[in-house]
Amino acid sequence: MTIITLPGLIDVHTHLRVPGGEHKEDFASGTAAALGGGITMILGMPNTSPPLTTPTVLQSARTQAAADSFCDVGLFAGASPEHVEYLPALAPNAVALKIYLNDTFGPLRVEDVPTLRACFQNWPQDKLIAMHAEKQSVAVGIGLAATYNRPVHFCHISRREEIELIADAKMRGLPVTCEVTPHHLFLNQADAARLGPLGDMRPLLGTPDDVAALWEHINSTVDCIATDHAPHTLAEKHSATPPPGVAGLETSLALMLTAVNGRPTMPQAKLSLDRLIELMHSNPRRIFNLPEQPDTYIEVDMQPYTIQNDQLHSKCGWTPFAGMQVNGRVQRVYLRGDCVYEQGKIMTARGSGQLIP
Ligand code: DOR
Ligand code: ZN
Ligand code: ZN
Repeated sequence: MTIITLPGLIDVHTHLRVPGGEHKEDFASGTAAALGGGITMILGMPNTSPPLTTPTVLQSARTQAAADSFCDVGLFAGASPEHVEYLPALAPNAVALKIYLNDTFGPLRVEDVPTLRACFQNWPQDKLIAMHAEKQSVAVGIGLAATYNRPVHFCHISRREEIELIADAKMRGLPVTCEVTPHHLFLNQADAARLGPLGDMRPLLGTPDDVAALWEHINSTVDCIATDHAPHTLAEKHSATPPPGVAGLETSLALMLTAVNGRPTMPQAKLSLDRLIELMHSNPRRIFNLPEQPDTYIEVDMQPYTIQNDQLHSKCGWTPFAGMQVNGRVQRVYLRGDCVYEQGKIMTARGSGQLIP
């Protein structure tokens, strides 16, 4: 048994479903899943029901997070044309602002220039703006970063054209960063056909050439690995109108360690362990300006194992990676000196996670 020690990981893209979707995930189940995946800090997305676009909804989600969470949690505020006037009031209680430019789960969307201008003018300069932007929307985001001379973070970049455009922007010195998900690195359109609704998410799985492009940029243009943990129940996924999204908190580290290790699914190592730590800990912390978690680390067993649905803590209870052989099972998680997770079991009380900010 080879045990390695890593810093507590940070996931800057998690869907926790509070309020309105607690049957899919809540702060207790989602933060338990995070610990199971070696993640000690998660940033929750605002496309809840109702969304986190008003101070009242954001405040009540924060109260629930403080009461229920097993790891540290920050929440995004959501941008919407109806509620732009709330942006200054939302900012002190949010880690960043999320703008949805393209179609995805839930109604949160910004499709007009006045709202985009209001976001870039009224969201505090020292807090990040993150975007769900696909295809030419990435160019819109880069244009806004240049126009207002402020950082923009691109969520779940999945296509060659997108990662190459971001590489061009970075080369010109523009303040843009991006994340890539393990599902876009390890699955493609052929898997989407095999998996049916369980392989449906936004952005859609890419072509083999899109996937190759993401790996080509893993040691340069890509700043973070983020899970985009987007749980939906199996009943919902098998319904007539399946919602897009897949779970990711409990499989991301193992998949990425498998790429470090170079086996069994990867013909050769794609990145170093130091680079994995940058992508899953140091860069997320720096880009989102997140607090340090002292004495926080994880112990991971590098023996190969098979991902299984019945070992998940997420309420959704399934993953598109079930049956896959990977390396790296989280054995223990230490948060601020305390062992909070050990071999599948949560060892701490609800509410022991801290709220950020
Ligand atoms: O597949 C997705 N599901 N993509 C998103 O952008 C949102 C997410 C969700 O909330 O389910
Ligand atoms: Zn998204
Ligand atoms: Zn998402």
